[in-house]
Amino acid sequence: MKYPVKIQLINQSRREGLDFDSLPFGKTFSDHMFVADYIDGEWKNCQIMPYGDLSFAPSLMALHYGQSVFEGMKANISSKTNEPVLFRADKHANRFRISSERLGMPEVPEELFMEAINSLVSLDKNWIPKSEGSALYIRPFIFATDESLGVRASSSYKFIVFTGPVGAYYPKPVRILVAQKYVRAFPGGVGSAKAAGNYAATLKPAEIAKKSGFDQILWLDGMEFKYIQECGTMNIFAVIGDTVITPPTTDTILDGVTRDSIIHLLTKKGVKVEIRPLGIDEIINAHKNGELMEMFGSGTAAVVSHVADLCYQDIVYNLPSIEERKIGPMIKKTLTDIKENKTEDHFGWITPATSTILQVAK
Ligand SMILES: Cc1ncc(COP(=O)(O)O)c(C=O)c1O
Repeated sequence: MKYPVKIQLINQSRREGLDFDSLPFGKTFSDHMFVADYIDGEWKNCQIMPYGDLSFAPSLMALHYGQSVFEGMKANISSKTNEPVLFRADKHANRFRISSERLGMPEVPEELFMEAINSLVSLDKNWIPKSEGSALYIRPFIFATDESLGVRASSSYKFIVFTGPVGAYYPKPVRILVAQKYVRAFPGGVGSAKAAGNYAATLKPAEIAKKSGFDQILWLDGMEFKYIQECGTMNIFAVIGDTVITPPTTDTILDGVTRDSIIHLLTKKGVKVEIRPLGIDEIINAHKNGELMEMFGSGTAAVVSHVADLCYQDIVYNLPSIEERKIGPMIKKTLTDIKENKTEDHFGWITPATSTILQVAK
């Protein structure tokens, strides 16, 4: 690899004694992390080191002006080879590049991104849980590190990757509230980037929705409050009659890897899929006509999250029970089986986690 990596391994793993069967999401972190600095126009100081605290100045620009983007991806143990495999790592690398570019940040070269992910996953492979539906969650992120209060793009950045085991995500079907006041993203903004600030903007509305008994907000477009966009931190699908409909990924919608995978898999299975603007009125009318068969959100964490009901203009619309649904449960199982390498990977989405630097270091 073009980038030399210093490797400092942990003395004692923290893995022993952890109960992998009762893991809360995102609170347990594996032994190592990957850290690199962008200084003077170059990526340098690449290191694999024990996961741990970092120190920084209070004037760190990321904290003030929010130049920070991240990714969320998963690795599993292949049921065929018993070795770690990554799911669509190239697509995550590409989205990370696009997000960084939108926020005026430098590109992490694909070679560096991939090596960081592959090395960490193979190094900490004993942290990958094996029970069905569980996985190693991978969190790459980049943030501005100039120490300055001037409002401008930073000239230095840190790229970090850490990982952590996550359990199967089996929450009950979600109750969703259709947004009527707040907007997640606006045309010309950063809604299609995985920018930290996008999430901050949704936290207060999400808290308000929770207080009224809802799990997620179904975001509408900010221009007309008419077209559905995303659901919480997931892309959204509606099944009307025998057609699966999802909005196109414009600059207000994140181009979800799970969304793209579902579209490919459904199309291959011969299911009718439409990618087009979908008005909330169309959904409500379909419900009234008995044609709204399913709605579900898609994302790396939950894979597929079924919508139990939705509340629009103070009226709650109940959807059919999960037992009656054909598409959501089927596609969730297909995707999970592909990630765990239990079924044919027709699209070549699974790649073994192999590290060149660790081999050289041996
Ligand atoms: C805002 C938002 N939309 C959609 C998604 C789903 O994307 P993916 O399937 O790539 O995880 C996520 C999660 O990453 C998200 O944060």
